[in-house]
Order: sequence, then structure tokens, then C-alpha cells
Amino acid sequence: MNSFEIRKKFFDFFEQNNHTYVKSSSLIPAQDPTLLFTNAGMNQFKDLFLSKEKRSYTRAVSIQKCIRAGGKHNDLENVGFTKRHLTFFEMMGNFSFSDYFKNEAINYAWDFLTKWLNLPKEKLYASVYHKDDESYEIWNKSIGLPDNRIYRLGEADNFWQMGDTGPCGPCSEIYIDRGNNFGCQESKCAPGCNCDRFLEIWNLVFMQYDRQVDGELKPLKSTGVDTGMGLERLCSIIQNKDSVYETDLFMPIINKIEELTRIEYNNSLDNIK
Ligand code: GLY
Repeated sequence: MNSFEIRKKFFDFFEQNNHTYVKSSSLIPAQDPTLLFTNAGMNQFKDLFLSKEKRSYTRAVSIQKCIRAGGKHNDLENVGFTKRHLTFFEMMGNFSFSDYFKNEAINYAWDFLTKWLNLPKEKLYASVYHKDDESYEIWNKSIGLPDNRIYRLGEADNFWQMGDTGPCGPCSEIYIDRGNNFGCQESKCAPGCNCDRFLEIWNLVFMQYDRQVDGELKPLKSTGVDTGMGLERLCSIIQNKDSVYETDLFMPIINKIEELTRIEYNNSLDNIK
């Protein structure tokens, strides 16, 4: 399946589930002094989460152009050293504004990955915020994911916020096990490890708070859902490619550079260091 077909399936799935399609916003966030570049799909919906704005819909789907090269969620230091980090990427997201919450968000994600994309269930893992028993139970009881494939992780991995201030909440991440060849070979390698084995594909954020300048977590008037899945990572799985660079999103550009420079592309990460 090529990247165009994957994008289309994503929109179709969520539109069939009553989500309104919203175009990617600009990479320069409009009227938001807290961000230099758009770093997530939820940026353009910030005021909806904060109940400062109302629209004609309470469910949305988008694929947002993002830059993570500075500030919060800065991936710059990983780029070039892993098979999965990029400075510019497309983030696939579904959103709920005072509409559905954890149960639907988890079930939608699972159905899309396993029924629409046919990813192998036995290779999928989930993590939840360590205090979030409700999400744990949904993964375990409603989805049927066994205990040994659900990890409880701390704030660094499973609490998401768009910037130093603003909407935030605990999150649940979905990983796919790419196998030993991608791993660090440590016996404790597991979801949350920095190596390429357990590839995080989708982050489901349960919006509950508005982080204040002094760090206080002020509860939002109503809860919401903000999800983010890296299109490039998903393509590397579905197209069975070793890294995001080998997907159809990059190879035509790389091939052209090869042709113009007459230098062959060498994808081995060992050669970068
Ligand atoms: N807003 C969710 C994420 O960026 O992971």
C-alpha cells in the first residue's frame, strides 16, 4: 500500500465514524506565541480543548505537517541516529472535543490498525500512564491485550503536553515489535526503550488539564482526545521497509539525488556515526 492509499484509508475510517475532515494548518502556528513551529496535529484545535472556541463539529480528523527541530518534543538530536526520527513529518490524528474519551479512542485505534490495515495483533503492545488504571482495563478487558503486552510508564513517556503551557493529559501509546534485528539486544528491551525494536506508531492523548505557567495542572472544563500517528513510521511498517527513509515518501527524492550526484545512497546507520 502506498502512502497515498494509507492517507486515504485513515480519512475514510474516521469519516465513517463521524469525524469531520480538517486540512493541515500552516507550519507557522497562527496567533500562538507559545510555539515557533507547528509540532502536533492538535495545535490548530488548542482553543477547542480549552473551551474558548466552538465549531460545528465535535470530532475531527487531519494529517498535519509538523516540525520537531526545536523546543518541546524536539527530535533533532535523534535524527540521523535512528530509523524512525524526522525533523519534518506528517502526523495522522483524530480528535474529540468534549465528545468521546478513552474507550472509543482506544477502540478506534485498534480497529484501524488491525481491521483496516491488518497489522498482526500479536506484535502490538500498548503503554499507559502508570496511574491510569482505566486505560489499562480498556486495553486488557475490552481489547483483550494480555497483561504482558501492556506497560505502565511514567510522565516522560506517557504524559503529553503541547508546550510549557496549554492542554495536556495522560496518554497511551501503541507500539509494534519489529523484532530482534531492530533491537539493542538488552534483555530488558521493551516498549519505551530508545532503540528501534518497539516502534511507537500511535499516541493517544486523553486531554484533561491546562498546564499553567507555574506548572499547576488546571482541569479542563471538559475532556477530549488528541491522537498522533507518524505517517512515515506507519509506511515503513506497511511497506516492510527498514527505516522511514526507504518508504515511498522519501525514495523518489533520494533516487533523484542519486541520479544528479551519481552517488549511491547507503542506508546503513552504521555509516552515519
Ligand atoms: N499530540 C499527540 C502527539 O504529538 O503525540
